[in-house]
Amino acid sequence: MRATDWRILGFDEPRVPRYGPRLPMNESLSAIQADALARIDAAEDPRALEEARIASIGKKGALSLAAAAIKDIPKEEKAAYGQSVNSARAAITAAIEAKQAALQDAADQSALAGIDPTMPGRPLPTGALHPLTLIRDEAVGILRRMGFALADGPEIEDEFHCFDALNTPADHPARNEKDTFYFDSGKLLRTHTSSVQIRTMEADAPPVRIIAPGSAYRRDEIDATHLSVFNQLEGLYIDRDVSLPDLKGTLEYFLHELFGPSTGVRFRPHFFPFTEPSFEIDVKLEIKGQTPRWIEVAGCGMVDPAVFKAVNGSRGDNAYDPAVWTGFAFGMGLDRLAMIRWGIKDIRLLIENDARFLSQFA
Ligand code: DAH
Repeated sequence: MRATDWRILGFDEPRVPRYGPRLPMNESLSAIQADALARIDAAEDPRALEEARIASIGKKGALSLAAAAIKDIPKEEKAAYGQSVNSARAAITAAIEAKQAALQDAADQSALAGIDPTMPGRPLPTGALHPLTLIRDEAVGILRRMGFALADGPEIEDEFHCFDALNTPADHPARNEKDTFYFDSGKLLRTHTSSVQIRTMEADAPPVRIIAPGSAYRRDEIDATHLSVFNQLEGLYIDRDVSLPDLKGTLEYFLHELFGPSTGVRFRPHFFPFTEPSFEIDVKLEIKGQTPRWIEVAGCGMVDPAVFKAVNGSRGDNAYDPAVWTGFAFGMGLDRLAMIRWGIKDIRLLIENDARFLSQFA
């Protein structure tokens, strides 16, 4: 036995073993260690390294088998032998760990080869709200701050809520089959959100202060200013002593909030079956690249007592006594408001989902 073997095995002093036959055991430990270290050193990938580990310190590895042989060692040498086994295992384990780190480093290096990690990242495109959603949320926000609550109603309506209760007679053009989507059942896709007025009054006694944004449907030819599915925002305010100045002040304030304080607002006498008197509202504002002109944005008026009567009829009471309650109503096209706000010339852009158009609102 050579003195250096002991040093490898962790003994400081060379020692002369007492039992000749035991000598090969320690020699074999040092051989096992040397062999394992050589294999670890030669391993070029994690798999070869793992094989070297299994062959040396794995359950049935050479060192583990040698360790099990301790039972055949004379008692007084067991301690020294055990220490030799442990130090061989420690040396092999340390070599495996060092090699693992080296292999990982090499793998990281080659993964990064050709990549400049200091380059700025590529921006990810972010989503944005649709312009209709933006204008609706803004309109709803203004009116909610004025005390209006949100209300809702079905898009598949019956003729009573869409027409009759709104004082719209059977021969009114809006009820024509050419203008309205009817189902076989006699129900129809609501032609306006005004039906929510009736639904609300049937459900709640006055006072009422609601807004109802939602879809409306008409058999319109689709062109730059018409869609067969479009979006409206309805409003209804009923209380004691509500009069025309309340209507005017509310809608002027709303439109100034939405389009800016210098926006011109004009009320033009008009006719709607469910309001008397009735008006159309026009606004005039600076739109980039356009000469200012009056554009119609809404219909409105004082609720016709005939509407109260119809509601009382279906409620079976006199909750909306026209002698006590008065109110105003309004309805506007949200698509139209969006077109005005952003100078959109073709309403079809709002439903085409063209990312080049939509990304301008991001
Ligand atoms: N419903 C009407 C339409 O679709 C708009 C409208 C006009 C609503 C006057 C109202 C109103 O509430 O008072 O054209």
